[in-house]
Amino acid sequence: MQKGGVGKSTTSINTAGALNARGHDVLVVDADPQGGATLKMGLREEYRSGEFALFDVLSDMGDLTYDDLDQLIIDSAEFDIVPSHLKNFNLEKYLYSEAGGHESLRKAVDRLDTDYDFIVIDSPPNLGPLSDGALIAAENVLFPSHPNTIARDSLEILFEEIDTIEAKFDQYSITTLGAVLNEVPSQGNVAREVEEWFFETFGEDHVFDVPERDVVEHAIEYRTSIFEYDPEDAGYPWDDGPQQDVIAAYDRIADHLEQYQ
Ligand SMILES: Nc1ncnc2c1ncn2[C@@H]1O[C@H](COP(=O)(O)OP(=O)(O)O)[C@@H](O)[C@H]1O
Ligand SMILES: [Mg+2]
Repeated sequence: MQKGGVGKSTTSINTAGALNARGHDVLVVDADPQGGATLKMGLREEYRSGEFALFDVLSDMGDLTYDDLDQLIIDSAEFDIVPSHLKNFNLEKYLYSEAGGHESLRKAVDRLDTDYDFIVIDSPPNLGPLSDGALIAAENVLFPSHPNTIARDSLEILFEEIDTIEAKFDQYSITTLGAVLNEVPSQGNVAREVEEWFFETFGEDHVFDVPERDVVEHAIEYRTSIFEYDPEDAGYPWDDGPQQDVIAAYDRIADHLEQYQ
């Protein structure tokens, strides 16, 4: 989604957490130079001053090659992560100019030594070679958006971009896994017209609501997904109930993704 603040990083982290809770080995690749997922997981040092970055792996300029993505992986209790890095702000312009720049993330992911059941790629909030690269690498897309009419326009532009990628690289076919309607207000429902558009576009059983709840932010503060969050320990004992609602929401998404494994 070529928009900031719609919940891309939150969806990445909690979907990865949900898949981990179901026993899968999961890697999160933070392909956004802004490093939302990286910073949310508390990897500020890696983001600001880690030795190597995707920049080194994906561009001809760096010290690493496509074979070296493994070197960027950081283990954590829930899932592994390839953190973002400030250097990656320079990546887009190299990917534009290099032959095969759009396919570089795909090549690097294909050459990972470690086997994962799922790799979740968090994308930047703009259309460009990094987000195209994420689409090509994953070939499967989940669209996090806010449940409003503006989201429709953004999504329609994104669908055109996907058509363009498929026309240009005909060896790839990008599958739509569904839409995540993020931050559905607890009071009042999603406008009927908006919901209908999402149902028609994605299919009713491919649209997943995630409620707007403080507990989502509390889990991030706690540096875990919602699944490993401990409200008592975090000092928000009243989060118990809302946590179960949010867990149920991401569990539905994980259940759906398992069908594509
Ligand atoms: N379901 C939710 N309930 C409450 N806050 C949320 C929810 N989803 C996301 N947020 C908050 O909204 C902000 C933007 O989310 P984020 O995932 O960083 O968006 P993006 O990656 O698209 O820029 C963050 O502060 C996040 O904690
Ligand atoms: Mg983000």
